[in-house]
Amino acid sequence: MKPLVVLTAKYPKIVREILSGLCELVEHPSEQGRSEEEMITILSEADAAITLLSDPLTRNVLSANRDLRMIANYAVGYNNVDVDAARELGVTVTNTPGVLTEATADLTMGLILAVMRRIAEGDREVRTTGQCLWEPLHLLGTSLTGKRLGIIGMGRIGSAVAQRARAFGMKVTGTHRGEPIYELLATSDVVSIHAPLTSETRHLMNPETLWAMKRGAFLINTARGALVDEVALCAALDEGQIGGAGLDVYEDEPDVNSRLLAMPNVVLAPHIGSATEETRSAMARIAATDVAMFLRGQRPSHVIV
Ligand code: DGY
Repeated sequence: MKPLVVLTAKYPKIVREILSGLCELVEHPSEQGRSEEEMITILSEADAAITLLSDPLTRNVLSANRDLRMIANYAVGYNNVDVDAARELGVTVTNTPGVLTEATADLTMGLILAVMRRIAEGDREVRTTGQCLWEPLHLLGTSLTGKRLGIIGMGRIGSAVAQRARAFGMKVTGTHRGEPIYELLATSDVVSIHAPLTSETRHLMNPETLWAMKRGAFLINTARGALVDEVALCAALDEGQIGGAGLDVYEDEPDVNSRLLAMPNVVLAPHIGSATEETRSAMARIAATDVAMFLRGQRPSHVIV
C-alpha cells in the first residue's frame, strides 16, 4: 500500500508532479485558523503532510496519529509547530528557507514606501473622489533618502532589505539575534522586524520598546504578527508616538484588529510577503522534494527536526 500524504491546502501543481506515483495524495481545501481537533481529523490517516503556517501542529495533534512521520511546513517560519514534541515523537519536520528572501524583502520595501509616501491613502482618495488634486501641501509624506532604517534581525531577509534600502539612499542599522535593540530603536526613522516568533520574541514590540522608538518613526512588520503587541501599537499610533505602520502579519490571523482597520496611516497587507508565482512554486518544490526524499528513505534537505 502506498503511503498517504495529506495536503492541507491547494498548493502549486509542482507538488503533485513531484509526488505522483510515490504516494496517495489527499487534498483538503485551504482553511485558515483550523482548530487542533480539525487538524487531528485531517491528519488521522496520514503518513506525511504538507502544512500551512496557520495549521496548529501541537503536541496533541502530532501525537494523535502515531503513523504520522513527517511534516513539510510550507513556510520558512515554523512557530506553528511544537518542535520539542516533534523531536520526542520522532516526527521529521522541514521548512522552506532561502527561496522567499527576495520576495519578502521586496514587500518590505513596498510597505516602507507605501507608509512613508502615503501611497495607500492616495489610492483611497483617488477612488473616493474620482479626482487627482495637485496641491503644494497635500498628502505630504516623508523622504526615504537620508533616513535611518533599523532592521531587527539581520538574517537572510533582513540583509536583503538592507541592500534595497541602501539603494534608496537610506542609512541602515541592524541587530542580530540576541543583540540589544534599544539604540537601534532610539535612532531609527523606520524600524523593520525580521525575527522568528519564539517565546523570547513574542511582543518584542511592546509599550516599553514602542516608546523607546524615535517619536513619529514608522514600524514595519513582515515577519510574524505576535512579535508586536497590537494593543500597544494602536495606543502608540493614536498618540503619535508611532507615525505610521506597514503590516503584512497580525497577532490573530486571519482576524485583523478593528482599530488598525480604522487608521489611515497604517498600510495593511494580507500576509503576502512570499506571494509571487515564482516564490510560491519554489516553496512547493522544496516541500514536495523533501517529502519525496523522506518517502524514499533519504534525509530531506531542509530538516528542522
Ligand atoms: C513564511 O514562510 O514564514 C512566510 O510567512 C510565508 O509567507
